[in-house]
Amino acid sequence: MGAGAGEGGHVMSLEVRGAGKAFGTLEVLRELELSVRPGEFAAVIGPSGSGKSTLFNLISGLDTPTSGEILVDGAPASVASGKVAYMPQKDLLFPWRTVLDNTALGLEAQGVRKKEARRRAGELFEAFGLDGFQSSYPFQLSGGMRQRAALLRTVVLERPVLLLDEPFGALDSLTRTEMQLWLADMWQRYRWTVVLVTHDIREAVLLADTVHVLSPRPATVVERVEVPRSGPRGLDALAEPEFAATERRVLDALRGPTAVTAAVTTAMTTAVSAT
Ligand SMILES: Nc1ncnc2c1ncn2[C@@H]1O[C@H](COP(=O)(O)OP(=O)(O)OP(=O)(O)O)[C@@H](O)[C@H]1O
Ligand SMILES: [Mg+2]
Repeated sequence: MGAGAGEGGHVMSLEVRGAGKAFGTLEVLRELELSVRPGEFAAVIGPSGSGKSTLFNLISGLDTPTSGEILVDGAPASVASGKVAYMPQKDLLFPWRTVLDNTALGLEAQGVRKKEARRRAGELFEAFGLDGFQSSYPFQLSGGMRQRAALLRTVVLERPVLLLDEPFGALDSLTRTEMQLWLADMWQRYRWTVVLVTHDIREAVLLADTVHVLSPRPATVVERVEVPRSGPRGLDALAEPEFAATERRVLDALRGPTAVTAAVTTAMTTAVSAT
């Protein structure tokens, strides 16, 4: 097997091998392992401040690991390789640009002519539920529409790996659910290779093939949960018993062995004092 080759000898879309990252004396990531197959939807879930956005900065090549290595499509992560499309946690649309010009911005930034960039972004407007809003300005869109526009701007780059950092974090619960179902639908249609950062266990289990659970800082992957599926991703999946069982596995991994030990200690103390 050569560099970046995973199970079966196929080149993995993403391989994070023993990555560590420190900012001065603050150790943020430690021996972090993560691999994602082409066309796989992976979710990364972990406590706030554990290092999820830091991990995305390393994968996109915006920052470099202190130790270990990161391979995207078999080659070391770098901005110049153009393999990663990154939708950062705070994705801002420029208020003075129309929605179409905002969505064409990423392509323009990589040197595509304005007319061609607009044409390629424009082709996705219908699928992204934005048709008719090409000439609107961001303030004229709802929160969900703004997030879809930011996602369109990322997806239109057609990079091998898509990184989505809490894309629906700021939305109300109903809009969030609608956006999750919409993304599930879009993924089933386009089969992008996605890594999604989220705090929402249900979102992770609804959307992903695999859920990578991070420990508190310094973050490492404490568990990799495969999501079993008997049908397509959608509302009906929520009612499957395996869905609740998977959510529980992720929750237990997030709470960690100390949470279990604490619960057992409490139970034992209660039992002892009751006798
Ligand atoms: N450039 C930097 N310089 C110094 N410290 C940093 C830098 N970037 C991040 N950190 C620190 O690294 C830790 C992890 O931050 P990060 O943003 O990766 O967390 P996160 O898991 O994305 O959190 P959240 O879920 O709240 O978005 C934090 O303690 C943060 O203060
Ligand atoms: Mg973050």
